[in-house]
Amino acid sequence: MEEPSLHASFTATDPGGPRLAAGEVHVWAVPLTGDSAPFAALLSPAEQARVKRFRFADHQRRYQISHGALRRILAGYLGREPHEIDFRQGARGKPYLTDDRPFFNLSHSGKLALIAVADEELGIDLEKVRHLESLTQIAERHFSEREFGALDALAGQARELAFYRCWTRKEAYIKALGEGLSMALDAFEVSLCEEPRFVACHDGREDPADWAMLDVSPGPEFVAALAMRAAAPTVHRFRLAG
Ligand SMILES: CC(C)(COP(=O)(O)OP(=O)(O)OC[C@H]1O[C@@H](n2cnc3c(N)ncnc32)[C@H](O)[C@@H]1OP(=O)(O)O)[C@@H](O)C(=O)NCCC(=O)NCCS
Repeated sequence: MEEPSLHASFTATDPGGPRLAAGEVHVWAVPLTGDSAPFAALLSPAEQARVKRFRFADHQRRYQISHGALRRILAGYLGREPHEIDFRQGARGKPYLTDDRPFFNLSHSGKLALIAVADEELGIDLEKVRHLESLTQIAERHFSEREFGALDALAGQARELAFYRCWTRKEAYIKALGEGLSMALDAFEVSLCEEPRFVACHDGREDPADWAMLDVSPGPEFVAALAMRAAAPTVHRFRLAG
């Protein structure tokens, strides 16, 4: 199975190499292709039980690789073995390390997963760009009035790209908060243009000035965003060495 094409800024790296310095966020690209067996061997009994609940072999493989890779990457930062990593869940299912730090978040789409790691709370969202018949209806339902207006002024590929930028920036923020889709997506606003920005928060829950919003798109077929409660973090991009 062919690996998705990635930007050259994602350098092939082994877990355990990079150290997380203050003010940094590390983004790891994990191709969900190739042999899943070495990753499957790292999973906990609960994760193995979850694998069995997927009906399709491809979903099983994707889960095995992404969660085995997550264990390998986190073990590298903690100086432990992958099977020694313990997770807990937030109120709406967001996974954390039992010791909390480092924070991490995972997203998968198509044949790729992204795993972000930092010392501050963060969320990441990856989407493989594909033609969506219902793009306008989704935007009308979930975007704020201003976001929808900005989208509606665009056509063709520019409209599609703006949609995915807005969607991933919104998802990254709700994933950072650990809320999931139970949160109203129009309670806050993000930019749709090339420069990612957290524009406004209407429910007063967070101050956009406390947040960084970053474009971490890994390759030509994907759009990805990262939201982190931090001032202008430095991003390092890695690809899990095969
Ligand atoms: C979290 C959520 C936004 C992910 O959306 P998605 O675009 O389909 O999926 P992604 O690939 O980007 O992210 C999935 C990963 O995010 C992580 N995740 C799960 N729940 C999360 C949450 N609440 N916040 C942040 N990250 C979460 C997991 O690592 C998950 O990986 P896994 O499914 O392989 O275990 C969506 O699944 C969701 O809304 N979940 C919460 C459901 C909810 O609110 N339930 C109400 C219970 S009261």
